[in-house]
Amino acid sequence: MELADQVAVVTGSARGIGKTIAMILAEAGANIVISDLNVEAGKETVEVIKAMGREAIWVEADVSKSDQANLLIETTQEKFGRLDILVNNAGITRDNLLMRMSEDEWDSVIAVNLKGTYNCIRAATKIFMKQRTGRIINIASVVGQMGNAGQANYASSKAGVIGLTKSVAKELAARDILVNAVAPGFIETAMTEKIPEKAREALLQLIPLAKLGQPEDVAKVVLFLSSSRSSYITGQVINVDGGMVM
Ligand SMILES: NC(=O)c1ccc[n+]([C@@H]2O[C@H](COP(=O)([O-])OP(=O)(O)OC[C@H]3O[C@@H](n4cnc5c(N)ncnc54)[C@H](O)[C@@H]3O)[C@@H](O)[C@H]2O)c1
Repeated sequence: MELADQVAVVTGSARGIGKTIAMILAEAGANIVISDLNVEAGKETVEVIKAMGREAIWVEADVSKSDQANLLIETTQEKFGRLDILVNNAGITRDNLLMRMSEDEWDSVIAVNLKGTYNCIRAATKIFMKQRTGRIINIASVVGQMGNAGQANYASSKAGVIGLTKSVAKELAARDILVNAVAPGFIETAMTEKIPEKAREALLQLIPLAKLGQPEDVAKVVLFLSSSRSSYITGQVINVDGGMVM
């Protein structure tokens, strides 16, 4: 068991990629803190993890609020007495062309995707610094590298996550705290199912592997970045995108 007795916090883990990350880390031996806004689905995910023979707790937290992010990490510390892995996965889209994009659409995406990642990193780093070890894995996106019409807010937030990842990696390297990002391409989840068929076909043309990714494709890389197999890797962005960005 690569992650035996380790503790992982996964934000936005009620469903989608976050849920699959939680399950793959649990399969590798970690105990998991499931956190999200979606209480019903979140509690169901906790039961799934428990059925796998691991400990799991539910903490409702809106990552865009620093007091809730702090409470998430404090609750983890109280329950498990440690924290080894933080996966910043919670994310939203509010798509619109720039000229039509409201201030609220801009602010909400930056608040969850970028500030939420900052909030959780700040809270968790207090523990990681004391432990002199820790892993932070931020879920970015190829859109933060390529841009995407209709997603100026989302692309900016994910480009911000990449800059945040590299800066914090430099700050925390001396304490053996490794900070990396995973940039998924087009992964089949609830977030992408609303994309119209025509746009879907156009997107497929951009993917050399000519198929959509699955949440497991992302989760396997998060497991690698959480484990001792990646002990000399920090400040990197690993693309899981079927070759979209080369
Ligand atoms: N699906 C894709 O193709 C794709 C591609 C690139 C990046 N990503 C990123 O992967 C991550 C997961 O995406 P997904 O496709 O599983 O989406 P999803 O919508 O299925 O899941 C996101 C989860 O985050 C939760 N969440 C939203 N706002 C939150 C908040 N303020 N605080 C806490 N939790 C919150 C939601 O309730 C939901 O359970 C996101 O960061 C997304 O930007 C997804």
